[in-house]
Amino acid sequence: MKISSVDIEIAAGEPGGRLIIAADHVLRRIDRTPWREVEPLLAHIVTTDHSISLVGWQQVSADAESVTLRHPRLRQIAYPHEWCAEMLLEAARLHCRLLAAIAPCGFTLKDAHPWNVLFDGIRPVFVDIGSVVPVGTLSKLDYLRYRPRRPLAAAVFHLMFLPFFVCPLAFHQAGLGNTARQVLWAYALNSTHRLPRLTDYLSMVPPRHWHRFARAVLTMRQANRKFNKVAAALARDGSLSQFAAGLSSIVESLAPLPASSAYTSYYAAKGEEHDFDITESWNAKQINVKSLLAIPEIVTVLDIACNTGWYARLAARLGKRVTAVDVDAACIGALYRTATDESEDIVPLVANILAPSPARHHYNGGLLLIDSSQRLGGDAVLALGILHHLVLGSGMALRDALRRLAAPAKRLLIVEFVALEDSVVVDEPGFFAAFSRNREDFAGYSLQEACAALDVNHWDVKLMPSYPSTRTLLVCSRRVPIARLPANS
Ligand SMILES: C[S@@+](CC[C@H](N)C(=O)[O-])C[C@H]1O[C@@H](n2cnc3c(N)ncnc32)[C@H](O)[C@@H]1O
Repeated sequence: MKISSVDIEIAAGEPGGRLIIAADHVLRRIDRTPWREVEPLLAHIVTTDHSISLVGWQQVSADAESVTLRHPRLRQIAYPHEWCAEMLLEAARLHCRLLAAIAPCGFTLKDAHPWNVLFDGIRPVFVDIGSVVPVGTLSKLDYLRYRPRRPLAAAVFHLMFLPFFVCPLAFHQAGLGNTARQVLWAYALNSTHRLPRLTDYLSMVPPRHWHRFARAVLTMRQANRKFNKVAAALARDGSLSQFAAGLSSIVESLAPLPASSAYTSYYAAKGEEHDFDITESWNAKQINVKSLLAIPEIVTVLDIACNTGWYARLAARLGKRVTAVDVDAACIGALYRTATDESEDIVPLVANILAPSPARHHYNGGLLLIDSSQRLGGDAVLALGILHHLVLGSGMALRDALRRLAAPAKRLLIVEFVALEDSVVVDEPGFFAAFSRNREDFAGYSLQEACAALDVNHWDVKLMPSYPSTRTLLVCSRRVPIARLPANS
């Protein structure tokens, strides 16, 4: 497997395995023997069962022990600690459907965890297809050696599906989704030597939410009991299909309820929840952003602080491939549900622009999770209604905030500047803690300063009206192609 300087090598999950992520494809080296048996079944599933999305593959080479497969690279790599509850549920459902499809032919999964899945828009795709193996293969796996109490197929799910799907889903359902995401980050598979414990969850739950913790524990215990029953039935009658059906009913009992937050009715409250064809009720911000996004050179869009995603959806309706991030998980859940109902090409993610997700390594070394600055980007970046939160709310320097928002943009950056006279800043000081504490520190917060900062950072800036008139769109085109920028830009 050839590796170039721009490729990223990910620590392989198995001895002799290798995984290389290149610009437009992925190379995966896996064990030859099980793959030879599994491939015809997977090829059959791909053509006959559209409820199961498997990443495409093509064999590029083989030797006595291994085969190397080439996959298309999905456009957005995102991890379970960035997913809303609905996405974790869909990834769990996909595992159940896949197990149900392979079980009658004597196959099972040797890995059953959310890092097997990436999202292609709203659709979960099973990418780790080397996880499908003949049931007999399980007895050769080191990590199952000390688990004789259950059938080995159930032991895989006990070891991975319970801690990384069932338990976090129980926490999501109890209204502790942020804790579930924190645990999925802190105990990402193979990043630590041990599995997450309830005490790890508890240490991340603020005391005012301990009643939710108690609810999550109760839900999890019920799910555990159901799991033990379906595992015992598997030991008794050997039906992996029944086991898959039992798992599926556990997962369905963990479906999250739609959540709301102070931000989920943002567009309705502003009277901006319009359909996507321009009418006279559209304001200048909506009209201008639509015209700017319409240019064909813009293929991918990253919407930073997307809220429930009106602009992300507008971009998707213009045929763009969109990633939309917001720190508010209820907003991201709402966007995932709408985008699913409307079949829009959007990957919605829970992410805080102030705390980018760093790289994560295997406990034995080797890269496991790629840092977010290398994963999140787009031909165009929308940064609407966010700059003032970063500067006036969180106290970030204007230049640093602009640099942070501009970094993921390849060609076009649209930043909205909200002036100090804007009614939100004047009427809702509670939102803007840093500004309320010391207004004098913000003398340099001006449209001119913002334009100057962008100019120094290789952007040509044009101003366009936003809405209301105390807001302005800074429409920025990269002056220097991204590949030629100095490293510190
Ligand atoms: C004023 S709304 C703007 C929504 C949308 N971009 C627009 O202009 O219509 C601000 C949004 O920023 C999100 N937000 C605030 N701080 C954030 C942060 N540090 N990272 C990501 N999103 C953030 C909020 O959750 C909220 O949805």
